[in-house]
Amino acid sequence: MHPVVISGTGLYQPPHTITNAELVASYNLYADRENTRHAEAIARGEREALAPSSEAFIERASGIKQRHVIDKAGVLDPDRMRPHFAPRDDDALSLMAEIGVAAARQALAAAGREATEVDGVLCAASNMQRAYPAIAVEIQAALGAGGYAFDMNVACSSATFGIQQAVGAVQTGSARRVLVVSPEITSAHLAWMDRDCHFIFGDVATAVLVERADEARAADRWQVLGTRLATQFSNNIRNNAGFMNRAEDTDLWGRDTLFRQTGQKVFREVVPLAAAHIEGHLASLELAPQQVRRYWLHQANLHMNQRILNKLIGYADDADRAPLILDRYANTASAGSIIAFHDHRADLTAGDVGLICSFGAGYSVGSVVVRKV
Ligand code: COA
Repeated sequence: MHPVVISGTGLYQPPHTITNAELVASYNLYADRENTRHAEAIARGEREALAPSSEAFIERASGIKQRHVIDKAGVLDPDRMRPHFAPRDDDALSLMAEIGVAAARQALAAAGREATEVDGVLCAASNMQRAYPAIAVEIQAALGAGGYAFDMNVACSSATFGIQQAVGAVQTGSARRVLVVSPEITSAHLAWMDRDCHFIFGDVATAVLVERADEARAADRWQVLGTRLATQFSNNIRNNAGFMNRAEDTDLWGRDTLFRQTGQKVFREVVPLAAAHIEGHLASLELAPQQVRRYWLHQANLHMNQRILNKLIGYADDADRAPLILDRYANTASAGSIIAFHDHRADLTAGDVGLICSFGAGYSVGSVVVRKV
């Protein structure tokens, strides 16, 4: 088995941000118009009026202050409430591949590698723009990478599950280096007209280069000490969009073809699941949670991360131990823990141990334990 390192990461940030104030203003205008449009049905008790959203609630309940999006105008247009992406010809690079390539190029540059030296590209994300050909193959071609490429979707855990696949391939010698690319265009699966969740997501793309330790040349290298994956079926986070919708004669624009969740249940059930997963993974490596210098946790909810940290190390509020990025990025699905790793590792020194952990729909939990070389 070849020792493996993470030798580079990349982050693509879309050009636009939406603050909670902007988001709430647009939603409340939408809600007012809907309520006016359906005033009679509401008066007859046949329909519930839409309640307004609130900035204070969003920040208090989630910790989110703003999000990045690829298209701001469409999302904030109360007559549209979704991004607007111009359709592209089959010959043009798809949007998902475009932002994935931008992040991947950064990861390669950080690792001091050319795309031609890459043997595998995984597009690991919570939504794919199309059924086939795989987005990963398009990214591979756009980069000029060799080897193989495939898409994989484990919702918010896609990136850590992807890193596990990459690590396995490099350890066993089927690849020398593998890129794990996570383009998350969450704005296209978010119900911006539903106040229970309209604040949750943001768009980004991340990339991670995994390679053989004896060949890596980057100064900033992270030896992979171990990976662990777990899944447990739950309907509490679900999206029914799929290739059989048309055959089922169901409403292609129905609410169930976008992200929906039972947030409180997810919160209650996933916190103990993730904490126990992390503890078990660390124990298998003979590490105590206190020995982990930094936790790069999934970024869905500030309070979830604080509870997990409290279970692990006995206190909750340690921004240095478990940095938060969701205040600026919101929940970026599988990319969240990778953004935290990308943005918050420069201060660690040789020998420091850190843990990347994602959790989300499935349920799914994935962890990667690394040590700074
Ligand atoms: N503005 C104002 N009030 C709102 C609101 C908004 N945008 N959205 C919901 N509310 C209201 C609710 O209607 C509810 O009102 P009620 O008490 O009168 O019924 C109240 O605020 C509390 O709503 P609730 O949904 O119970 O809030 P919460 O504290 O559970 O926070 C989440 C909601 C989504 C932030 C939280 O549950 C969460 O983050 N869960 C984990 C989600 C997760 O990790 N998902 C993984 C996705 S990858």
